[in-house]
Amino acid sequence: LGRDVRYFEIVDSTNNKAKELAGFKGLSHEAGLTAAEGMLVIAEEQTGGRGRLGRSWHAPYGKGIWMSVLLRPQVCLEIVYQMTMITAVAVMRAVREVCGIAPEIKWPNDLQYEGKKLCGILTEMSAEADRVNYIVVGIGINTASAGDLIPPQITHQMTSLSEITGKPVSRVKLVQEVLQELEACYDSWLAGGFPELLEEWKSHCNSLNRQVAVKTLHEVYTGWSMDVNSDGALLLKLDNGEIKKFVSGDVS
Ligand code: BTN
Repeated sequence: LGRDVRYFEIVDSTNNKAKELAGFKGLSHEAGLTAAEGMLVIAEEQTGGRGRLGRSWHAPYGKGIWMSVLLRPQVCLEIVYQMTMITAVAVMRAVREVCGIAPEIKWPNDLQYEGKKLCGILTEMSAEADRVNYIVVGIGINTASAGDLIPPQITHQMTSLSEITGKPVSRVKLVQEVLQELEACYDSWLAGGFPELLEEWKSHCNSLNRQVAVKTLHEVYTGWSMDVNSDGALLLKLDNGEIKKFVSGDVS
């Protein structure tokens, strides 16, 4: 991954750019006009960075790693979600390696350090029938200090690598490590290694085996977070004993 690098100073969103360069299947694809698997889109700044659940993602100039990787696995739609979980594992490993800290994974796929968010992941895809055409894995890692990075009203929920370690972080080194770990995880996923990756994901997840609140678009549910299944869904034992499955939401 990352042999074809498309670097931009400013883009609206690296995910949008990657999707644009991925193009459509059909003639353009057969004629080799579309970007190949592994393409990395990376930018200094995003003017329209996007997050999960239609949220925006603050991505100021030089203050983080704003990157998207194009993948073209021959898999069916149902397991694409696993790729997001695998990405969280890969970024967690890379941050641990390069910065010497151990972030936790918050369901569904944030990386946190001492309860504050360090990294977000947004996976998007294009499919035909039930087959995947491509997946774009978007990763945002806050590297610079939170003071200048985050609008004051959300500072308390966000952190950055330099704030945590008290040192500047080499973005190049971290991007290289993320790509290396992502490639290793991706290869092992393609070879059927998801169960082990899921175990690794769970062992670093801070949202399991505890009393939590899950906020969906319309409601808030409270209960005991029992497990995460292989679709990435969170299983919550509600206070009334019923077991409810969540595919998206915010857990606290
Ligand atoms: C989230 O936590 O809600 C996901 C945030 C994902 C942000 C990254 S930054 C690079 C890529 N491009 C985007 O527009 N979003 C993702």
